[in-house]
Amino acid sequence: MASLAPPYILCFFLLFMLLLCSSTAQAQRNISLGSSLTAANNNLFWESPYGHFAFGFQQIGKDGFLLAIWFNKIPERTIAWSANRDNLVQQGSKLELTKLGLVLKDPKGNQIWASGISGGDVAYGAMLDTGNFVLANSSAHLWESFKEPTDTLLVGQTMSLNTRLVARYSKTNYSSGRFYFILQSDGNLMLYTRNSPLDATNSAYWPASDTPNNGFQLIFNQSGYLNLEDKNGSIVYTLPSKGATRDFYQRATLEYDGVFRQYVCPKSSDQSSNGENMVWTRSSTTIPFNICLVIIQRTGGGACGFNSYCIINSELRPTCLCPEGYTYIDPNDDTKGCKQTFEAQSCDEGSGDADDFDFVNMEHTDWPLSDYEHLQMASESGSEDKCRKACLVDCFCAAVTFYKGDCWKKRSPLSNGMSDPYLSGKALVKRRTHNSTSKAGGTNARKKDQSNHSTLVLSGIVLLSSSVFFNVLLLAADFLVLFRICKKAKVIKPNGFLPEMNLHSFTYAKLEAATSGFKEVLGRGASSSVFKGVLTFDDNQFMVAVKKLEHKVNENGQEFKAEVTSIGCTNHKNLVQLIGFCDEGLHKLLIYEYMSNGSLATFLFGPSKPNWLLRVQIALGTARGLFYLHEECSTQILHCDIKPQNILLDDSYTARISDFGLAKILKMDQTRTTTGIRGTKGYVAPEWFRNMPVTVKVDVYSYGILLLELICCRKNIEEDVKDDTQMILADWAYDCYASGKLDFLVENDCEASQEMKMVEKYVMVALWCIQEDPSLRPTMKKVVLMLEGTIEVPVPPYPTSFISSI
Ligand SMILES: *[C@@H]1O[C@H](CO)[C@@H](O)[C@H](O)[C@H]1NC(C)=O
Ligand SMILES: *[C@@H]1O[C@H](CO)[C@@H](O)[C@H](O)[C@H]1NC(C)=O
Ligand SMILES: *[C@@H]1O[C@H](CO)[C@@H](O)[C@H](O)[C@H]1NC(C)=O
Ligand SMILES: *[C@@H]1O[C@H](CO)[C@@H](O)[C@H](O)[C@H]1NC(C)=O
Repeated sequence: MASLAPPYILCFFLLFMLLLCSSTAQAQRNISLGSSLTAANNNLFWESPYGHFAFGFQQIGKDGFLLAIWFNKIPERTIAWSANRDNLVQQGSKLELTKLGLVLKDPKGNQIWASGISGGDVAYGAMLDTGNFVLANSSAHLWESFKEPTDTLLVGQTMSLNTRLVARYSKTNYSSGRFYFILQSDGNLMLYTRNSPLDATNSAYWPASDTPNNGFQLIFNQSGYLNLEDKNGSIVYTLPSKGATRDFYQRATLEYDGVFRQYVCPKSSDQSSNGENMVWTRSSTTIPFNICLVIIQRTGGGACGFNSYCIINSELRPTCLCPEGYTYIDPNDDTKGCKQTFEAQSCDEGSGDADDFDFVNMEHTDWPLSDYEHLQMASESGSEDKCRKACLVDCFCAAVTFYKGDCWKKRSPLSNGMSDPYLSGKALVKRRTHNSTSKAGGTNARKKDQSNHSTLVLSGIVLLSSSVFFNVLLLAADFLVLFRICKKAKVIKPNGFLPEMNLHSFTYAKLEAATSGFKEVLGRGASSSVFKGVLTFDDNQFMVAVKKLEHKVNENGQEFKAEVTSIGCTNHKNLVQLIGFCDEGLHKLLIYEYMSNGSLATFLFGPSKPNWLLRVQIALGTARGLFYLHEECSTQILHCDIKPQNILLDDSYTARISDFGLAKILKMDQTRTTTGIRGTKGYVAPEWFRNMPVTVKVDVYSYGILLLELICCRKNIEEDVKDDTQMILADWAYDCYASGKLDFLVENDCEASQEMKMVEKYVMVALWCIQEDPSLRPTMKKVVLMLEGTIEVPVPPYPTSFISSI
């Protein structure tokens, strides 16, 4: 009796078996016309022949179903493609394979999505083991999921012109998010931020100028490399990667935090392991390297939202945090930004409101896009107090950043916040300590008379260097903008502050007056002297450096002018800007912006040594400036005289290359061989004294020496040393490197000693730069990428190994 099951249970059992069968039956190779899938909790799907991938519905929380392709053997849900990310469907929605393609309809029968096809009627569909879902007839593929990627590329997949990957919104929200990766129709591979939910582009944040612009397609090849190929099929760029073998699943995904990362996961054949070892680990592609530092937009919130700031962890993943006094606008979405928890400051005069505020001190933090006023304190002592005070009494001031006498006021909302040990200086964020007693209330937007503000230092020239901390990085967008503008031979006006600064022609008389008769000498060289001066533009006075070229100047006036114009076209934050010139017969003068902190030589070899991070910034800044001169300018400029005396420091200690372009004006290439070369290991590349063509690689050599000097804080040649082997820095550095004793190089330098990995990398880069064989030296582009960590530094050979071959 008891063994006889009631009929309805049998019925259920049969139904269950049927479901099971249909599930396996679906795992066929060809999916025939008329087949369908229904969004439900039963998890039916179409599987690829070896089961690596599956096509079907995935339930996304309580929000609905996503029609997707996923890695079917990996325990963690990993979606490689989806159809309706911005329009999830409800239970009962149906996908059907028709001869016109795939059609997704909601339970009411409204069409939500359709694949569309081209080139005939569909005969069948197939989920392939590559992760590609295809619709085909006997002769061709009429549609492929590979051609319409969402946020992920798989091995074998190709991104053609105008194809983009759009990041998902968050870890759990698969909607189109805030970033995209595109191979533009102009051949540039770019990363952009986009406004979400609007499908509007903000600005580019990668590359920092380093990919070639003649790409045609991006191919994820079988060994796990992403290669950008041109029309002829030659590889023009390979994304940094370790590659991977066929034993690994691979994917490259633009993730919700804006970083393009490549992952691998072992294909487990071991049944007993239950897939426990099947987890994704990152292979080396991580673009951009540090999203917190790299995003810079003319407008927008940056990697995090407004009023928040971005911090990168050791896994290179960003976190968005609110400063004290602020909380997340949406506690469930830290990218939406932060809001003040306190009542805003009153702008009414005499409200006494200032007493109710103080500052939260945040070291190494900046909101570089929120500057509205720059206060340069005349003397450093007490200047931080003055900076705080200036912000306290200013109701528009939400925060200040402060560094060595420079004070930048920031307005609300604070944007593009970042916190990183690489940033020098600190931010002081204003917050309320007491609630106001006299409720100012109402509209506090009454505009203060501009003249009430503390004196704005109207130094457009100074503003070229942007806000204090910002000097650390050459940010992608900036670089691109400058680059394009330079090509158009226009002078930019960053932030609109810069007065009209097309190259000015000055009379000798005016310059004589400006320098009080060439009274104060800033420096003297073999072929020029530099004087301090003050010039007036538009009622504002600017400090300038006037360089008087003594002799050997090209007599041909036309040529002088042409050279000067080409220098004047350059515009980069790591170059000293040329403001004007004077060309009156024998009087040939060049007028530059004045650099308040003198030359790197004085700074580096003086009594107080700059700290490690500042030296790192200077090394990077110089490399970027040189890269710009070599590769980004409309006419390539060789410097030919890179040395610490020619690297100047502006008011925020940003490295600014000076005297570029002079080589040509002074015909340095001829004077070179007869003067100036003493010793064997100066800054001068060996090809100068051999009968070899002089190329950009001479600057790379000099840069290598400079880099060693920056690392070790000492001159390239020093006679007063403990041990003769230390006399020539380049030799000693190689010895230390080869014997694994790099710590000798940074003895007594605690900061650098704690960064030995970085020291090692920098030494390796320097050793590459000073290779005797110019062709072995990297380009400045490569130097920048290596220093930034975007590409790895190979083990350098012994620098003079090529001498014997001459
Ligand atoms: C799938 O269908 C196509 C066209 O009908 C046929 O050529 C192919 O052999 C089929 N493949 C399999 C594995 O059945
Ligand atoms: C996912 O993000 C989008 C874009 O912000 C938003 O419109 C949508 O409501 C989010 N979905 C869920 C389920 O939170
Ligand atoms: C993939 O690309 C890399 C780097 O460009 C290359 O070394 C490798 O040979 C390529 N592999 C295949 C299978 O084409
Ligand atoms: C100010 O008042 C608000 C509520 O009106 C309160 O939440 C906040 O804690 C007060 N702040 C201070 C500093 O007293």
